[in-house]
Amino acid sequence: MLLPLSQLPASLLPALAALHKATMPTLLSDLGDNFVLRYYQIAQKDPTVIAICALDDHPEPLSTSHVSRVTLGYALGSPDPAALNAQLRRPLSWFAVQMLKLAFSNPRVLLQLAQSVLTASKANSLKPGQIELTYIGVAPEARGQGLGKSILLAFVESARTAGYTSVVLSVETDNPAALALYTRFGFTITQTFSEGSYNRHRMEYQI
Ligand SMILES: CC(C)(COP(=O)(O)OP(=O)(O)OC[C@H]1O[C@@H](n2cnc3c(N)ncnc32)[C@H](O)[C@@H]1OP(=O)(O)O)[C@@H](O)C(=O)NCCC(=O)NCCS
Repeated sequence: MLLPLSQLPASLLPALAALHKATMPTLLSDLGDNFVLRYYQIAQKDPTVIAICALDDHPEPLSTSHVSRVTLGYALGSPDPAALNAQLRRPLSWFAVQMLKLAFSNPRVLLQLAQSVLTASKANSLKPGQIELTYIGVAPEARGQGLGKSILLAFVESARTAGYTSVVLSVETDNPAALALYTRFGFTITQTFSEGSYNRHRMEYQI
């Protein structure tokens, strides 16, 4: 079952954040549980964000009135990913406390944060009419069954409905599963670039 993030019950956001952290080894995940959950809380309320969640179709009944739903996949995109990230710095008091905690628990991630700001490539910039697919992931046990393709299709259809003319994304050159998903869907490589120690393709799909 696919549904927009805006309709996901708030009680399922922690499970979605946990799935993101387990499947998306990027800076956001390295920043830790609090940041990932906060990111999805912000994204859920941001009307410019397009995001799709996949839940299992046959949830386990916990009681006559409650079921336990498993989050199996997600896709999230924005016409301005930097502005979405910037919302993580508010309220400043929350952000300052998180930074302080990281300074003690995981100081290397603060270095990564500084590096990502300094090495951000111009290849990531968006033109009018483009939306970036920033994150897409499927739980390991649900992969290879077409779920990634279904989530991507739902994302593209939502982008079309919202009036976007193309979907763009960045993918590491050594991620064959993601490259296969995008290429078979019809994305083409527009640029290959380095960002810090990563080599990435920029890809585009004309809607
Ligand atoms: C990339 C990812 C979302 C694919 O999800 P999925 O549900 O397994 O993908 P699907 O089953 O829908 O497969 C889509 C297509 O890609 C192909 N594919 C998927 N995984 C593949 C792999 N490991 N090797 C080669 N081809 C692969 C499938 O054969 C299918 O092709 P088809 O349409 O010709 O049948 C999943 O592997 C994942 O979550 N990876 C970790 C997160 C990640 O890397 N996200 C992308 C960041 S840019």
